[in-house]
Order: sequence, then structure tokens, then C-alpha cells
Amino acid sequence: QTFTRILKEIWTSLIMWFFYALIPCLLRDGVAILPAPQNLSVHSTNMKHFLMWSPVIVPGETVYYSVEYQGEYERLYLSDVWIPSSWCSLTEKTECDLTEDITATVPYSLHVRATLGSQTSAWSTLTHPFNRNSTILTPPWMDVTKDGFHLVIELEDLGPQFEFLVAYWRRESATKEHIKMVRSGGIPVHLVTMEPGAAYCVKAQAVVKAIGRHSAFSQAECIEVQEEALPLALALFAFVGFMLNLVAVPISIWKMGQLLRYSCCPVVVLPNTLKITSSPQKLISCRKEEVDACAMTTVLSSEELFRTWI
Ligand SMILES: *[C@@H]1O[C@H](CO)[C@@H](O)[C@H](O)[C@H]1NC(C)=O
Ligand SMILES: *[C@@H]1O[C@H](CO)[C@@H](O)[C@H](O)[C@H]1NC(C)=O
Repeated sequence: QTFTRILKEIWTSLIMWFFYALIPCLLRDGVAILPAPQNLSVHSTNMKHFLMWSPVIVPGETVYYSVEYQGEYERLYLSDVWIPSSWCSLTEKTECDLTEDITATVPYSLHVRATLGSQTSAWSTLTHPFNRNSTILTPPWMDVTKDGFHLVIELEDLGPQFEFLVAYWRRESATKEHIKMVRSGGIPVHLVTMEPGAAYCVKAQAVVKAIGRHSAFSQAECIEVQEEALPLALALFAFVGFMLNLVAVPISIWKMGQLLRYSCCPVVVLPNTLKITSSPQKLISCRKEEVDACAMTTVLSSEELFRTWI
């Protein structure tokens, strides 16, 4: 009886002691308990994974956040082992790039907590573990160009996990589609040597073998090569023009020379009776300039002119 009473008293005092010890603790922390971040979600596009959360707002203070993760192995066998993320230890941002941490196609558990001075919040855990196979794959951006008769494609560089399936075809025969795997983006790749006058169309999709998925195809882009005949005709035309010039210019110069000579200094055959041997004066009086022109034409006879031109 006394023994049970003593036990009871010890029990009551223990409880009282706990109570008194705990009250100040609860009061002290109760005022300042930092709420945990809320609304955790993962936004993952093209194998880039971001954890986001709503900010913990403390007026006039900067709150920092830390993120940790657990892969499948830790979750199954080492449930209290969490790995700090590479980039988000005491960060001010309310998002965390987990692309480098999530390296396997298994469910990852993620949690985040807030820190303000010496206070830390509880951990807030993502409701459903994240598997990278749920990433959104967008149709790849592509640049289709021609280099002479070569059809060249350059695809968006989405990182080493991406390959691209490129389909191309002649526009007139859309059913005959050709397929080419392109191992990486960011470098121009030759697809086909195009036939002159034909239009070719290209579309591409991104493939990620690590998760066994692919994006939709991009919009098809078509490109046309000029008919080969057109540049050839132009070249021929230019050549003929050049040859014509080569012949026409000397001929016209020669013709001009002839005209000048006949209009200015006609060859007049005088009857012997009219010839005045004593005074070698010209019968047709040219004005001074005309005399000069005549002098020139006689010095440089048209045949000579032709020869110098050639
Ligand atoms: C969580 O998100 C909802 C809607 O997006 C919003 O109304 C709510 O305020 C958010 N919670 C916090 C703690 O920010
Ligand atoms: C991702 O993988 C899990 C199993 O590993 C599977 O149950 C789920 O359907 C996959 N999701 C997608 C979008 O492929």
C-alpha cells in the first residue's frame, strides 16, 4: 500500500517536473516557431528538375531554405538518411535546381526547411515522390538550312541525355519518309544532298533513352533548292554579253574613225589641171579644230586604231 503510494507520488512529481520544465520551453519556442515552407511541387521540363515552394514570410527578415533528397535505396534501407542537394543549402530562392542530384529513374523523396538565425522550421516533404520519367518533353527547336545542295539541320542542345529522331522527305512524295538519328544537338548535321528544283521538309523529335520517352515532333520546315538551269542561263547570258562587247566596241571605234575621216577630210581626187603645185594649200578649208581632228585621224589611221585596241 505505502509502496504504491510512494510510486504514485514519484510518478506525479515526475509529471509535474516535466510540465514545469516544458512550459517555459513551449513558451519560448511557441512565440518564435518558424513555419515550414508549404506548397511543394516539382517542375520538370526536358530533364531539368526544379523543386518549388511558397516562401515563409517573416517581416523584415531574410529566410533561408535548405533542400535534401532521398533516392529509392535510402528510402527503402536507410530511411533517416537524407542527402543535401548540391545547390540548395541555405539559399534565399524559393526554388531548387535538382537536375544534378536526380540521376536515376526512380522515385525521389524531397524535403525542404526554412532557417532564420538560429531557428529552423520543421521539414516539409513533397507529397508524392518525384520520378524524372514524368518530365515534360517539348518538341525540339531546329534550324534547317541549305549549304549549296546540302540539306543541313542543327538541333537545340538539350544536354547529353538527349538524342533526336529526324524525319525528312521530298515535299512531292510525302509518303517516302527518311529517318536519321542525330546523337546530339548544337552541331550542324548533313541530312541529304538535294536534287535541284525540289523542296525538302524536315521535322524532329527529342528522345531520352534513360526514361524511355520521346517528345512530339516539331512543326515541319520545308526548304527549296533553285533549279540548276537558272544560274547556268545567267552565266551564259553574261558570257554572250561580254563577247558582244568585245566585238562591238572596236567595231564602233573603227566606224567612228571612218566617219570622222570622211566627213572632215574627204579624199578628193583632183583633176590634174586643178592641181596647184606651187602652193600646197588645201582646197577645202577646215576650221582650226577640224584641221586638228584631221591631223589626228591622219596620224592615227583607223586601221592603226583598230590594231591598238586589239
Ligand atoms: C499555397 O498555394 C495556394 C494556391 O496556390 C495559396 O493560396 C496559398 O497561400 C499557398 N500557401 C502558402 C503557405 O503560401
Ligand atoms: C515512371 O516509372 C514508373 C515506375 O518506375 C511507372 O509506374 C510510371 O508509369 C512511369 N511514368 C511515366 C510517365 O512513364
